[in-house]
Amino acid sequence: AESVVRRDRFSGGPARGFLSSLAADERIFGADLAVDRAHVVMLSEQGIVGSEVVGEILAALDDVEAAGHGALPDGEDVHEAIETAVVDRVGPDGGKMHTARSRNDEVAACIRHRLREDLLDAVEATIALRGALLDTAADHVDTVMPGYTHLQPAQPTTVAHLLSSYESAVARDSARLLDAYDRTNRSPLGAAAFAGTPFDIDREQTADLLGFDGVVSNSMDAAAGRDFLAESTAALATHAVTVSGLAEDLAIFAHRGHVDLADEYASTSSIMPQKVNPDSLELVRAVAGDAVGGLSGLLTTLKGLPRAYNRDLQRATPHVWDTVDAVTEAAAVAAGAVETADWPAETLEAAAGEGFSTATGVADALAMAGVPFRTAHEVLATAAERADGDAPGIDTLDAVTAEVLGESLFTYVPRGRVEAIIDPRESVASRDSVGGPAPEAVAAQLDSAAAGIDAD
Ligand code: ARG
Repeated sequence: AESVVRRDRFSGGPARGFLSSLAADERIFGADLAVDRAHVVMLSEQGIVGSEVVGEILAALDDVEAAGHGALPDGEDVHEAIETAVVDRVGPDGGKMHTARSRNDEVAACIRHRLREDLLDAVEATIALRGALLDTAADHVDTVMPGYTHLQPAQPTTVAHLLSSYESAVARDSARLLDAYDRTNRSPLGAAAFAGTPFDIDREQTADLLGFDGVVSNSMDAAAGRDFLAESTAALATHAVTVSGLAEDLAIFAHRGHVDLADEYASTSSIMPQKVNPDSLELVRAVAGDAVGGLSGLLTTLKGLPRAYNRDLQRATPHVWDTVDAVTEAAAVAAGAVETADWPAETLEAAAGEGFSTATGVADALAMAGVPFRTAHEVLATAAERADGDAPGIDTLDAVTAEVLGESLFTYVPRGRVEAIIDPRESVASRDSVGGPAPEAVAAQLDSAAAGIDAD
């Protein structure tokens, strides 16, 4: 009879399906059971509910868990459905479970409990990706390749320098996710609807039992606050954007023949027999759209919500679940693509000098010899123009220098030195400033990156 009464209360009318979050709440089914258990144990320890009744409720919760989310009675949400299922098993005393709480603090606790797990999975995905980037980089400290700006050959660099640049960005993504984890990992339980409760509850105890690192103190803040969702989703979207750049680079390099993607990360065409397409990476790239959309949906839902609880919040959380799932999966796929890709050293080195990518080095050498850098820039720009897309020969460089400066290039920079500078490998070796692409500079970056991974 009790459960009939409850179901009647949630008649919902024509909007019944629209109101209910029961299906979407499957995600927090386990969290709700954990929250219920912690709450009733605390009620028992505080002498608010007798230990015998609490024992029956705990047994009923075990039974509900074994039956699974799919076996729950109909309800407005998972919290109500589990309570109904407990009352069905225990009788009216089962209703004591909801003493000194509200679904408002309950749902907030469930979301935080579940999101903690998801954030840790996301952090692990970032760490795995960093490991893949770092391992591959370690194999390619000496693999010279073209570096690009505006999609045009710009200056020679190395595969290790490129991959290490992404590792650095992903390391910051890990840090942002861990920051979000710290603020997510606080218990709102005991806030009740928002105004606390006259019962002598122990908020620290439920927080402890649920493994939270303390409580969200102000009860109105605890029930209403969802900024932990915003910052978690922002961190995920930021990571998705980082990974989309990596995916784009891999797709473009594959297109140029500068990287060979493993077959398992490529797809064939259903009509064009010759095609091998970087579909996995394009999907990874697209996940940034899901994530930015998720963040935007979430923030738009939260914007302007008054204190203390509004049902809008029910539609806020799914944005976060969708985002964390998509982004974590994309990071894992990106890691797999990086791990299995092959960087053809000879092809890359041959391409590294294309488009006169060592021009800056010659200008730098003239500047080091006392020519104003802007003038040196003009000499090299003129030589590049004359070579029309190719690297100008050393004689062209000399001739243009003589035209512009009135002196042979070799009066400023010895011929042997110029020869070295226009060699992409030498060019890379000379760029040994901190964080630069020179092998020893990159080795230092890889060392500190490896220490960062260990620390995380
Ligand atoms: N399903 C609801 C949610 O996700 C639970 C809280 C309902 N509370 C309320 N006062 N209607 O937000």
